[in-house]
Amino acid sequence: MQTLFVELGERRYPIFIGHQLDGSKLLNQYISSQQVMIVSNTTVADLYLDHYLQQFQAMGKTIATCILPDGEKYKDFQHLHLIFDALLEAGFNRDCTVIALGGGVIGDMAGYAAASFQRGVKFVQIPTTLLSQVDSSVGGKTGINHPLGKNMIGAFKQPEAVLADMAVLDTLPDRELSAGLAEVIKYALLGDLEFLTWLELNMAKLLDRDREALAEAVYRCCAHKAHIVAADEMEKGDRALLNLGHTYGHAIESYMGYGTWLHGEAVAAGMVMAASLSAQLGWIDSKDVVRVKEILSQANLPIASPRIPVDEFLAYMAHDKKVLNGQLRLVLLKGLGQAVMSKDFEQSQLIQSIQDNLLAE
Ligand code: NAD
Ligand code: GLY
Repeated sequence: MQTLFVELGERRYPIFIGHQLDGSKLLNQYISSQQVMIVSNTTVADLYLDHYLQQFQAMGKTIATCILPDGEKYKDFQHLHLIFDALLEAGFNRDCTVIALGGGVIGDMAGYAAASFQRGVKFVQIPTTLLSQVDSSVGGKTGINHPLGKNMIGAFKQPEAVLADMAVLDTLPDRELSAGLAEVIKYALLGDLEFLTWLELNMAKLLDRDREALAEAVYRCCAHKAHIVAADEMEKGDRALLNLGHTYGHAIESYMGYGTWLHGEAVAAGMVMAASLSAQLGWIDSKDVVRVKEILSQANLPIASPRIPVDEFLAYMAHDKKVLNGQLRLVLLKGLGQAVMSKDFEQSQLIQSIQDNLLAE
């Protein structure tokens, strides 16, 4: 097992990465409360709830559960409310801990509930998808979707600890594994060219769920994210670089209907568009764009977007949280492994980057 820390002063917290981890031993010191609410969904609960219930029972905790329906389309106010219902029905107080057991959807919703229940209670992440292990469980972004835009409502809420167990990835569907690999590739493209080479060499192992390769990838991504979050927790600067491909991707997810295109799939197509715009600006060359497409294809990810009318694509992009004073800013590439935030592009170039990367009819 390896342990990383997100260095946030008194709110410093560990990320445990390994396989077949003992939650009761590792999390004991991070769950000071007696009352523990496990939030999960129907799919993950069927697979892993008993296992974790046993671990928390061994810690002598009073445990309640809230099992939500499975899917991005339930990441909304109505289903968030079910978590508050469960907390209140269980009679839980301000000193309870909410544990997210699931992928990014559950992590984002449980975290937002923890941020707002009685103005904030403690929170622990047990991420069960590759995507949530490398990205969403670390850094404290939580929230829900609005029909007009992804993740539009939320709060920053750092967990007390993150437990990333590679063993749970055995049951993850192939499509979800690939979606997680999109966020893994994102870290390489935005800031770590050597990691891109590593991924090119190790992609087959990752797709085969080789636990050592997965743990290495999760460690490298979490180390990268922990470093960025420690320096810029509230996204006033460099943290925004973690959104490479996301402004385009969120438009795809929102237009297609939440859950139709997986977050990672939409981000993959979005990263191709961002690379394509960067090439138009002369910051990277066409060989780099090919390399981006190749690594995404190696991970069985899409490299083009569904045929969304460009005006609608742009309308969704205009809701992005990185819009400042009405001006869209995008994470682009000054080189492979070197992301920057920029507004220095023409509208015509933005449109071109979309049109050039739509799926053929
Ligand atoms: P998800 O939570 O929907 O999980 C994907 C699917 O895998 C679901 O059907 C889930 O039930 C199933 N699943 C989960 N673990 C499993 C396991 N071990 N075995 C079998 N099936 C399993 O999706 P995701 O890709 O984990 O997360 C996507 C969400 O994360 C999006 O809502 C996105 O906006 C959010 N996100 C948040 C951040 C952040 O910083 N907070 C970062 C990236 C993404
Ligand atoms: N997923 C982007 C971030 O956490 O900032």
